[in-house]
Amino acid sequence: MTTRISGNEIAKKVHEEVEQKVRRFEEAHGYSPGLAVVLVGNDPASHSYVRRKERACEEVGIVTETLNISADVNADELAGIVDELNRDDCYHGILVQLPLPDHIDADDIINGLDPLKDVDGLHSQNAGLLSLGRPRFVPATPLGVQRMLIEEGIEVNGAEVVIVGRSSLVGRPLALLLTQRGRGANATVTMCHTGTRDVGAHTRRADILVAAAGVPDTVTADMVKDGAVVIDVGVSRVEDSSRRSGYRLTGDVDYEAVKEKASAITPVPGGVGPMTVAMLLENVVLAAKLQSE
Ligand code: GUN
Repeated sequence: MTTRISGNEIAKKVHEEVEQKVRRFEEAHGYSPGLAVVLVGNDPASHSYVRRKERACEEVGIVTETLNISADVNADELAGIVDELNRDDCYHGILVQLPLPDHIDADDIINGLDPLKDVDGLHSQNAGLLSLGRPRFVPATPLGVQRMLIEEGIEVNGAEVVIVGRSSLVGRPLALLLTQRGRGANATVTMCHTGTRDVGAHTRRADILVAAAGVPDTVTADMVKDGAVVIDVGVSRVEDSSRRSGYRLTGDVDYEAVKEKASAITPVPGGVGPMTVAMLLENVVLAAKLQSE
């Protein structure tokens, strides 16, 4: 029997916990944690993600505001907007939704954030702390993957974990997170990327296989060991004329074939996606706490 890991259910539990934390924070401090989201341009997927984040914040009592910025904003103007938010005490967390338009250097903008407000964990200081084994803000998707493994009772300690993808948002920080000492970690991690000669040779060794390449069908059944746990981080929109929207979401894993071999697998949608949102909420509460100290 293959377990279908429900990110929706685990995320609901995290939301309830965060709601309690927000309430306790408000009782102690007399104000609510706040998140500002900077959304540049009209990318439909980004708008959809941000709407989900806003809704989740509202549900748990986090004050949230989204700044919709035109795609033709220049880098100095955007840096100025971030700087204003850095100085605004209402917002303890700032999230700059990625990707940014090509004419803007995302690293420059992210490194202009107050690192104590960087709830995405992408500022060099936060990425550095994670790499030193002293995490402060960890990107929400890796945190969500780790939380899913813990909640499902999957043994990570000593496990062979193979991650396909080396992005700053997922692959790299997840590798660092899972190689730390502690609960839901202490794994032996291999990271595969476009320079890896034989990806399947690595993935077939994995007790836990994480697909985070952002390319549909990156992981096929022949690449998976019997009984492996498969976590699908990918979300791609593919055309589907049978849907009213004209598209459907698909992950990086050939779900139907891989589920026959895996002991547990996450679906897309309803797997890692809701966990990313849930862990962002945790990071906003952490940011508010750090700034109150
Ligand atoms: N774009 C896709 N995922 C993310 C995320 O987790 N954070 C930000 N800032 N942008 C994203």
